[in-house]
Formats: sequence, C-alpha cells, structure tokens
Amino acid sequence: MFIGKNFVELPQVGSTNRFATELLKTGAPEGTVVITDRQTEGRGQAGNDWLSEPGNNLTFSIIFRPTFLDSKRIFLLNKMISVALCSTISVWMENRNQTRIKWPNDILVNHKKVAGILMENHIGKDHVNATVVGIGINVNQRQFDARYGKASSLAVEGGNDIDRDMLLARLLEMIEARYLQLKAGKADEIERRYFEYMYGYQEFVDLIIEGKQRKTYIVGVDKHGRLAVEMDNQLKYYGIKEVQFCL
Ligand code: BTN
Repeated sequence: MFIGKNFVELPQVGSTNRFATELLKTGAPEGTVVITDRQTEGRGQAGNDWLSEPGNNLTFSIIFRPTFLDSKRIFLLNKMISVALCSTISVWMENRNQTRIKWPNDILVNHKKVAGILMENHIGKDHVNATVVGIGINVNQRQFDARYGKASSLAVEGGNDIDRDMLLARLLEMIEARYLQLKAGKADEIERRYFEYMYGYQEFVDLIIEGKQRKTYIVGVDKHGRLAVEMDNQLKYYGIKEVQFCL
C-alpha cells in the first residue's frame, strides 16, 4: 500500500541510508525505498563498513515517519523489522528454525550472519519524527572475507540461488504488514514473534562483557532495547555497545 510506492533505484550510490536521509529532508513520503546494486560506502553498526558484492545481494533503505510512536519505545521498530526479515528469510531455508535474530541488529542462519540492519532515528520532543531503516542482505554472494567474522548468504545456507526481486517484494510486504500492526497498537504480537526468533532467548549463552567472557542466561530485551541477562544471580541490563555475543 505505501512501502515502495516511491521507489528510487540508483545504479550506484555511496550509502542508501545517507541518500534516504537527504530525501527525508526534502519531504519524501513515508515508505520511500532507496535501493542500489552497487553501494560504494555502505555503513554498518558501530562505524563498521558494510561490504556487498555488486549484483548479488540486496542493499536498500526505507523511510518511515512513525510519529505515533513514543520515542522511549523506539526499539519496537527494530523488533518489527527483525521479525519481518526473519519470517521472510526462513521461507527460503530448508528448516525454518535455522533463522534467528541476534540482538540487536543481525539476522543469522545456521549461526552465521546473512543480514544486518542499520536504523537511523530522528527523534522529536517525545515522538519519533522519522527513521531511515537500512537493510543489507547477503543473497547470492558465495565468497566472504574471513576478516569480517562469520558471514554467509541465503544461497549458501539454503543451497539455491534466490530471485532477489521476489525476495524484496515479499520482504517489503511483510515489513508493511508488521508496521501497520505496530501502528494499530498490536505491539504484543510483534514482541511475541521477536522472542520466538531471538538467538539465545531463555538459554545460557556466553557473552563478552567488559572484555571478559561470561556465562549468562538471556531473559529478554526491555522496552528501551537493552539486553536483559541474569548473571551472578542478578538481573542486569546492557546497551548495544556494552555487550557482544561469542559466536
Ligand atoms: C550491520 O549489520 O552492521 C548493519 C548493516 C546495514 C547495511 C545496510 S546496506 C543498505 C543500508 N545502507 C547502508 O549504508 N547501510 C545499510
């Protein structure tokens, strides 16, 4: 209905997130999609680069104007995108349980990263004015630089090359459905699905905290988006930069 109605396809761009942020300033409508096959300065979380083989993957950004959302609940957007990504990707995998959300921004298949999310929020006084959601999916790429950790693609994990147009169309539909659910006040359903997909949820998992490897029990993610863990018989909350999973 609205995601992708304004579809901006670029032969090459530095970063679709940066381009979408410029469009946002000129009043681009909610649901605008900026997509390219060749991203030359792709950005990832924590100032990392996002490298993607031209012609084999999906690199795109979507503009949202979620003014209905209280800024304290901004992480719900991340949750709804993660759920949409997982449920879409899992359709192409032999075993649907292979696909997991690794808090806070990664999608894993068979414990390997196949997709990442970069959300850039523009927050007003109490509400979220706009958000640019950047999504990178390794679709048909088959070679990965080991320096960048355990990366893989849907084709490698699922066994077959995937039609990228079909994947994108299905994903945009799923994202729109989940977004409308959020807008209709049905955040509970998104939360429920998020925890079904979450890697390590209600399990004992090794995390790196303050440079040390610790055995923790994952309790969940609070409304601010912090990871809730039990450690040394205490409930603790960690922000995005404070903790890492050992994979
Ligand atoms: C991560 O896992 O660190 C997030 C990666 C996000 C990459 C996507 S690709 C499209 C969009 N444009 C960017 O520059 N980054 C995001």
